[in-house]
Amino acid sequence: MTRLTRADLDGLPAYVPGRSLADLTRELGIAEAIKLASNEVPYGPLPGVVEAVTEAVRGSHRYPDMGSVELRDALAARYGVAADRIVTGCGSVALAEILVKATCLPGDEVVYAWRSFEAYPIITAGAGATSVRVPNAGDHGHDLTAMAAAITDRTRLVIVCNPNNPTGTAVRKEELDRFLAAVPSDVLVVLDEAYREMVSDPRVPDALTTYGDRPNVVVLRTMSKAWGLAGLRMGFLVAQPEVATAIRKVLTPFSTSMVAQAAALAALTQENEVKRRCALVVSERDRVTEALRKLNVPVPDSQANFVWLPLTDRAAAFGAACESRGVIVRAFPPDGVRVTIGTPEENDAFLAAAEAALD
Ligand SMILES: Cc1ncc(COP(=O)(O)O)c(C=O)c1O
Repeated sequence: MTRLTRADLDGLPAYVPGRSLADLTRELGIAEAIKLASNEVPYGPLPGVVEAVTEAVRGSHRYPDMGSVELRDALAARYGVAADRIVTGCGSVALAEILVKATCLPGDEVVYAWRSFEAYPIITAGAGATSVRVPNAGDHGHDLTAMAAAITDRTRLVIVCNPNNPTGTAVRKEELDRFLAAVPSDVLVVLDEAYREMVSDPRVPDALTTYGDRPNVVVLRTMSKAWGLAGLRMGFLVAQPEVATAIRKVLTPFSTSMVAQAAALAALTQENEVKRRCALVVSERDRVTEALRKLNVPVPDSQANFVWLPLTDRAAAFGAACESRGVIVRAFPPDGVRVTIGTPEENDAFLAAAEAALD
């Protein structure tokens, strides 16, 4: 057959979304399966979000405000940065994709840790750029010394995922200070903080307040996790104004929908509730970690809303065993399994499944 698409995409793994809850529930014939596979926070939309979305949808025959002006002003006020430094997008993954597009020509290199967020190889290859994967250190965290050493003349972008998906590990301020000092000033560093709201270790810096003013740093945030808007797709980045302007030029027009903008504005008024939910997640994360360690799984300390089970060649079987007990987790064979923190009841169901699976 005549080739219509790029041959180099053939070898690219497809992004695997967590297994469908409805599918598994039907297959097992149980009341309801539990999904702990996509790092969502389990407590529903924040108060006021459903109403804001319902109202916004009345104008859905019109295009949204392309500049997300009101939302950027609200984000600017909340995060203490100028609005012209903020770019919103259809989830932070879309913004990460745009960042590769805005920095790399075919053959340029993107350095990131591995394992890390599974979208990084996909968005890098999508732009025709080359992935340089730096293996995680023995503690499952980023090896920032090796990442700095992996930068070459071809490197245009370095991504630091902090905390790291899927291992949950986080790099601390001294390590990041040293790393950022070592990165050449013409290489853009993306600090992807999708799980920032769940960080409880004070040694892990908030990139916006600590590094936001560095010219070659971009901070990536999402409202999918702590802010409960995963299904509405709203992420944002903070960069220097010149970088933000360049990024806007290659942004898909109108990619932050009016519904996403309205939902994000409503969510931003609910910060106390976000904090309350994150505190619940953090305390459950610590409980689940301890319980798994008692089952002899060497779970690294997590600063996110998931835990990492480094089960290596047992990862796939463990994932399948949990699924057969109605709990969907995310196996990344041959490295490990990532399990999202759910409600206390969901976590109990997972721990029971894990105990049986590890037997
Ligand atoms: C590290 C990291 N970055 C970015 C994202 C993307 O989030 P979204 O596109 O929903 O904003 C995720 C989602 O899982 C993630 O784990």
